[in-house]
Amino acid sequence: MPSIPVPTLLRLLDAERLPLAGDWSHRAPWPGLHTVLLRRQLPAPGWQAPLFALPAQLIAGLPRAVPKRQQEFLLGRLAAHEALKAAGCPATQAWAGQAERRPVWPAGMTGSLSHTDSLVLAVAASTSTGVRSVGVDLESLAPDPEAVRAIEACFDEDERRGLAACPHGLLGGFALKESLYKCLQPLVGGWIDFEDAWVRWSGDPSQPARLTLRKTLAPAFPAGHELQGSVGFFEEHVVAAVAC
Ligand SMILES: CC(C)(COP(=O)(O)OP(=O)(O)OC[C@H]1O[C@@H](n2cnc3c(N)ncnc32)[C@H](O)[C@@H]1OP(=O)(O)O)[C@@H](O)C(=O)NCCC(=O)NCCS
Repeated sequence: MPSIPVPTLLRLLDAERLPLAGDWSHRAPWPGLHTVLLRRQLPAPGWQAPLFALPAQLIAGLPRAVPKRQQEFLLGRLAAHEALKAAGCPATQAWAGQAERRPVWPAGMTGSLSHTDSLVLAVAASTSTGVRSVGVDLESLAPDPEAVRAIEACFDEDERRGLAACPHGLLGGFALKESLYKCLQPLVGGWIDFEDAWVRWSGDPSQPARLTLRKTLAPAFPAGHELQGSVGFFEEHVVAAVAC
């Protein structure tokens, strides 16, 4: 439990909490899901100095990385802490650990994290609300040309045609696949490829997306299994979530 209040930590880390996560959080079909969204400034030179004021518990998990990565890692943890508390986790236990790159949630809780250069998103839920696992993803609405090519390569021809028919459809489909990975990988282990799931989404944020598994990932997740996803838009970003 940090001895410094979270608003102070956010100030030290050049970030602010946004009051609402846009329409997306209201439309997501999982009422037990709690969302925390932060706006971040990219760190200026000398940024690491405030790290010395941070609680040892947070710094201990800090990857040896460039300041931008350190900042997003810490902000993700702080956002997750606040989302876990909102979801009913006692403040003393509301910290996400880490195993390899995967966040490890307190017993009885689940959640997911995503960050871009300007936003940090965390969601959390108590598994007692019926959400066993969740994945979220944020993508900028203005990806660079290299990212656009990589995103297009994540779909087969039929899938790409369906998604490309609506504005930001491919980006939404990509964010849904990344969310699916974050939702299922902790449950099934191993690698999940982009071709292992098929995405359908109308491009309308008020409509759910459907993700169908093309291969058996685990006995509980056989080929043909369908998961529900949600896509929305917020501050020049697409925001996606998949839960099961
Ligand atoms: C792991 C991956 C999904 C992360 O997405 P990203 O767009 O690069 O980055 P984001 O900021 O959105 O998400 C990063 C967060 O994902 C989370 N994450 C990483 N690996 C994870 C895993 N195995 N399970 C759940 N969450 C994971 C972490 O919290 C990480 O943030 P942190 O390191 O600060 O804690 C992505 O790099 C990747 O490997 N994608 C390929 C796999 C895939 O999507 N397959 C498609 C299946 S249909």
